[in-house]
Amino acid sequence: MSLQNQLQRITAPQIRARKGGEPIVTLTSYHTHTTRIIDPYVDCILVGDSLGMVMHGMETTVPVTLDMMILQGLAVMRGSEHALVIVDMPFGSYEESPQQAFRNAVRILKETGCGAIKLEGGERMAETIRFLTGRGVPVMAHIGLTPQSIMALGSFKAQGRDEADWAPIEKDAQLVSEAGAFAVVIEAVAEPLAAKITMDVPIPTIGIGASPVCDGQVLVLEDMLGLSERVPKFVKRFGSLGDHIRSAVQGYVDAVRDRSFPAPENTYGMRKK
Ligand code: KIV
Repeated sequence: MSLQNQLQRITAPQIRARKGGEPIVTLTSYHTHTTRIIDPYVDCILVGDSLGMVMHGMETTVPVTLDMMILQGLAVMRGSEHALVIVDMPFGSYEESPQQAFRNAVRILKETGCGAIKLEGGERMAETIRFLTGRGVPVMAHIGLTPQSIMALGSFKAQGRDEADWAPIEKDAQLVSEAGAFAVVIEAVAEPLAAKITMDVPIPTIGIGASPVCDGQVLVLEDMLGLSERVPKFVKRFGSLGDHIRSAVQGYVDAVRDRSFPAPENTYGMRKK
């Protein structure tokens, strides 16, 4: 990447400064080719650990490893020159101690060249976020439904649908903000709670199944393109790529079987003597 491109790329402080401004558009991407397509349009690209479920068919994000995240983070960095690329820290790579989190965050930053990392957890991760941000690691926090805790939670269900459950989620948002996170993802949280948190915290909130009032939104690319078979209620399909792929594959199958492919324009003749 040239110095010029590095200067043009959106940074974590620029995202932080967009609190209350134009909505921050974020999509996930795990590959170079999808990144090249989305990079000019979006503000942030998240290399989410959802790649375990989307790319590898895992049932949860729990088995995803640091090496998997670094490999796909690097692929995304190769395809992008504009958006802020944020790489998820996978389960088990940061919870043990702030020192473990720092070691592994530094591996992600150095080996991919990305601009920030994301980790799940509010109050319980505040000390770690403070440790990382105090040492030059830009951190996006993630509260509400935290899929890496699925084994403790028991199911992927929306949070804060009873007002009695709001206080700990609000505290999570306050504490990650005070600890220095430049933004916070709020996942699958009752809309009025997500709106209230957005009003109350000084950092941008990025909603997924949260509220249109959030400072930005994020979706998993394959879900919004219509490639994923099952999607949560909060996903809107903005395309139907699955149908396009099925019809292209059917066209290829038919053309191979009736020998109309390869056509003369797809084959090599002999050189003229
Ligand atoms: O892993 C992921 O893709 C995420 C988003 C859904 C926020 O964390």
